[in-house]
This record gives sequence, C-alpha cells and structure tokens, in this order.
Amino acid sequence: MQDLGQEAHAQAQPEATAAKRFGVVQRPVLEWNREVERETAHLYPRVRHHIPEIEWPVFAPYIAAINRLKQQRNAVILAHNYQTPEIFHCVADIVGDSLQLAKEATKVDAEIIVQCGVHFMAETSKLLNPEKTVLIPDMKAGCSLSESITGADVRLLRERYPGVPVVTYVNTSAEVKAETDICCTSSNAVQVVESFGADTVLCIPDEYLAINVAAQTDVKILTWKGHCEVHERFSADELLAYREADPEIEIIAHPECPREVVEIADYAGSTSGMINYVRDRRPPKVLLVTECSMASNIAGEVPDVEFVKPCNLCPHMKRITLPKILDALCSMTEEVTVDPAIAGRARLAVERMVNLQN
Ligand code: 13P
Ligand code: SF4
Repeated sequence: MQDLGQEAHAQAQPEATAAKRFGVVQRPVLEWNREVERETAHLYPRVRHHIPEIEWPVFAPYIAAINRLKQQRNAVILAHNYQTPEIFHCVADIVGDSLQLAKEATKVDAEIIVQCGVHFMAETSKLLNPEKTVLIPDMKAGCSLSESITGADVRLLRERYPGVPVVTYVNTSAEVKAETDICCTSSNAVQVVESFGADTVLCIPDEYLAINVAAQTDVKILTWKGHCEVHERFSADELLAYREADPEIEIIAHPECPREVVEIADYAGSTSGMINYVRDRRPPKVLLVTECSMASNIAGEVPDVEFVKPCNLCPHMKRITLPKILDALCSMTEEVTVDPAIAGRARLAVERMVNLQN
C-alpha cells in the first residue's frame, strides 16, 4: 500500500464550462406521438408494475428524448439502485451499488458520464475518469453520511490515533477521501478492514456500518458518529412486529442500519447484494429494510415475490428526475469537478479499493 504523503497527481481541470465545450441544445418539444410510442414500446413492460399505462404518455417523451440525446452527446448514464424505476429501467446504461458503479466508471468509453445518484458517487466517477465530463442532474443531491465529516476531522483523528489505518466509506467527499488510506463500500468493508493486517482500524464515518463490520472481524474498529438518515430510522421493534405477524417473512437489511436491526435480518448486504438475494432465493414474502426504490426496481423481475413495506425514501436520491436528466444533457450542467490539490490523493484511496477486489 502506498503512503498518503506521496505526490498527488493533478486532476485535469476543464478550461471552459461543459456548456462551452460541448454546446447547448434546446430542450426538445415533448409530446406523446407515434414515434415516441414506437421508440419506447420495449421499455414499458419493465416498469408496468410501477407506472400505470395511462401515465406512460407523460414519462415516455422524456425517456425518448434522453435516450436520443445520450447518443447525440456520446454520453452514458450510471444509475444507483435507489433511482426510480423509470430512470433505472428506461434511461440508465449501467446500474448497480456503489462499488459496481465505481468499477464500471473506470471502463466507460463515452465522453460524458451522467451520474444518477448522489454527489459523492459523481465525484468518485470523476476521480476515476479525470478526462471525462461528469454531470449530476441536481448538484444538491447530497448524503447525510458524507456531510457528517470533513477532511479536518480526519486529520484530528489521525493525530489522536497515530499509526492507525483509516478506512473511509465511499459515502464521503473527495476532501475526506484525500485524508484516508483506502475507501470501502458496504459490499467490501470487512475485506478492506482486514487488508491491513492491523489490530486496530478506523472505519469512518458510518457508526452503524462500523459496528456491523466489527461483528464480523477480530480487528478492533474505531469509528465516527455519522449515520444514514434513511437507514437509522428502522427499528428492531418495527421489524419484530412484522415477523410476529408473519413468521415466514424474510428480512433483508442494508448494513447502514443499526446493529439490532441487522441482527434480526436473515441477510445483510449492499444494495446489489440484497437484489441478488431476492433474485436467487425468491423468498415468497420479503421485507427490504432500505430505500423504497429497491423493491420497485426488482419487483417486475420477480413477480412471484411479495414485497412488504416499510421502506424509507432517500430525499437526496429522489432529487434526480427525468426532467433534470434531460436538462443536464441539453444544457451540459451541472458539471462535477474535483479540486486538483486533493484529487490525486482522493483517487488513490478509491483506486486502492477497486484494485483490492480485482
Ligand atoms: P450501496 O453501496 O450498498 O449501494 O449503498 C450506497 C448507499 O448510499 C446506501 O444508502
Ligand atoms: Fe446517503 Fe443514506 Fe441516501 Fe445512501 S440512503 S445516499 S447513505 S442518505
């Protein structure tokens, strides 16, 4: 593993705005006509369980316009598993959990990446693809975990725990990543923590993820008090009530949930781990203890599975909508850039994680 002190590679910074470099195009006229109907006919079956047929003429003109513009612009859409079904199934080129999106970002040929997810995900794509143009349809799509910690906090932790390796959840800003040794996601956190062969590791900023990792390893884990505002709302009592009502129900939780919630679950894993669990095991009745779009995105593929709510919405993920994606492609805003002073070190932390898995 390389030292954090090593020379940072400067991040290529665009000289002109993306709008200047690529030009702006007028938003196309959006209407439901024969052409749009024909172009989107193959997509409707993927979302029919979610969008009533009568509402399709509202969605389809946006979907057709986005897919045309993607080709025209040489752009790809990377979408997280929490995006709404019309984004996930109808305009995304690549879908996945945070780790999959980070890995796929390294293989993108297109000139432009439109990140349908939250800001740290777009930043990760930019770090791994400094020469590409990365757009996010809403710059305000943040994350409570990412906002819970700053680079200065990590520097203080290093002073307090000298020599202790720092593992940072990918749900953080580039500024925070730049201060850490390696990143992790929910799907590789235990492997990353154990990769140092150290007795003690700082695993920040998600307290619950850290506690859930600590339960699977002998490494002593130190953490931070950051929480996901979506997953911290689930409680053990709530889940036990569902299980009491139906003992056969399978409960699948994301590791950002509190420990007592994960302990009740039959399985805990990343968003893609949860999808694969349902896809492979086909539980007759399942409760996905996570963001609401997860169940909506997989429901069409597994009609034999009954999904039981509750779920919680991520207000940040829900900032991304079809109209905003279309506007981003027309106006070439909002462009995500990373300060060259931190980009090299932040990139190293992400690359170490990606390379660990390969
Ligand atoms: P995953 O890496 O499991 O997709 O999680 C990302 C996230 O933000 C969950 O809240
Ligand atoms: Fe952040 Fe939680 Fe939203 Fe994921 S679900 S983006 S961790 S606030």
